[in-house]
Amino acid sequence: MSAFQLRDPGRIGVAVLGAGRMAQTHMRTLAGIGNVDVVVVADPVAAAAEQGREIARARKASLDPLAAIADPDVEVVVIVTPTSTHAELIEASLHAGKAVWTEKPIAQEIGDTARIVDLWRATGLPVAVGFMRRYDPGYARAKELIDAGELGRIEQFHAYSRDVNPPPLEFLLHAGGSFLDMSVHDLDLARFLVGEVEEVHAWATTLYDDRFTQANDWDTAAIMLKFRNGAMGVVETARHSTWGYDIRAEVCGAKNKVTIDADRKTPATITHGVNLQHDLYGDFFDRFDVAYRREIEVFFEDLVAGRTPLPGPDDALETLRLAVACTRSWRENRPVRLDEVTE
Ligand SMILES: NC(=O)c1ccc[n+]([C@@H]2O[C@H](COP(=O)([O-])OP(=O)(O)OC[C@H]3O[C@@H](n4cnc5c(N)ncnc54)[C@H](O)[C@@H]3O)[C@@H](O)[C@H]2O)c1
Repeated sequence: MSAFQLRDPGRIGVAVLGAGRMAQTHMRTLAGIGNVDVVVVADPVAAAAEQGREIARARKASLDPLAAIADPDVEVVVIVTPTSTHAELIEASLHAGKAVWTEKPIAQEIGDTARIVDLWRATGLPVAVGFMRRYDPGYARAKELIDAGELGRIEQFHAYSRDVNPPPLEFLLHAGGSFLDMSVHDLDLARFLVGEVEEVHAWATTLYDDRFTQANDWDTAAIMLKFRNGAMGVVETARHSTWGYDIRAEVCGAKNKVTIDADRKTPATITHGVNLQHDLYGDFFDRFDVAYRREIEVFFEDLVAGRTPLPGPDDALETLRLAVACTRSWRENRPVRLDEVTE
């Protein structure tokens, strides 16, 4: 149970911070939730704030995120700003007694993330972090089956993620490296579906785009995972794919296996002679449309029901430690145990 009490579950006052690319998706969701009242959309770029106000059907636009947090009509803060600003905005929100839903990650540094975990525990306020794949119907079903024991003892985990277009160099220079920026979603799933990881060994290289070398980053990687429960895992990540957004996972147990594989976007297939053709997903907005909506809807359902929303800051910290372990393993060319990743 959460210490947080909504004033009126039929009308929850919300501030949205950041009105960029990802926020527009979340604001459309918020505008469609009956008991959400978006009080204010704050973005230092006036045109973005105003456009956000329209999308979210908010009462007002603001240039000042701290004023939006302090607004007395705001009980919940939704943070969709650049990653480098998340920690200070979460802190300000918790100090103001507000519940928080924030895009991932909390921070790129373990110290900053651990500070938020401590504050979250001390305040008892609800905080959820946007690892949206947990809310995809495929991964959610896999989790149900695993928890129900349908697979038996889990023995193997395999995940592939291939993004379509690499981000610009300017983004890569501040993204904390591709283990933190991209593989992190598969690492979160590994923990969600199988459990905590004991040791990793990661290899990475640049095969496709020299901008990754310029950013001291990689575009192609393979990670081996040894889980605490004895299972073994492999995560493959590529930052480009010419065949669409290619995201798959497989969990094998002693009794059964489950595969999460959305390789067909539209349930329509056309024959071309003896060949079949169907369309694939173009990008993450496309593939995880439902997950992006459900992660926000379930957060508000949890607030109304008094449930602790998930995944929380403690999950964000553990998944970050895993991504940091992978980065360290690649850079130092050695296996890294999770218990050595404390900072
Ligand atoms: N879960 C996912 O799959 C996923 C996908 C894309 C982005 N993200 C995350 O979403 C966040 C935002 O990414 P984006 O692609 O929308 O970025 P973006 O650059 O398109 O938008 C960020 C917006 O925040 C505004 N902003 C900057 N500082 C601010 C502040 N202090 N207060 C309020 N607004 C501020 C900017 O003016 C901009 O409009 C990032 O943390 C990113 O990691 C997550």
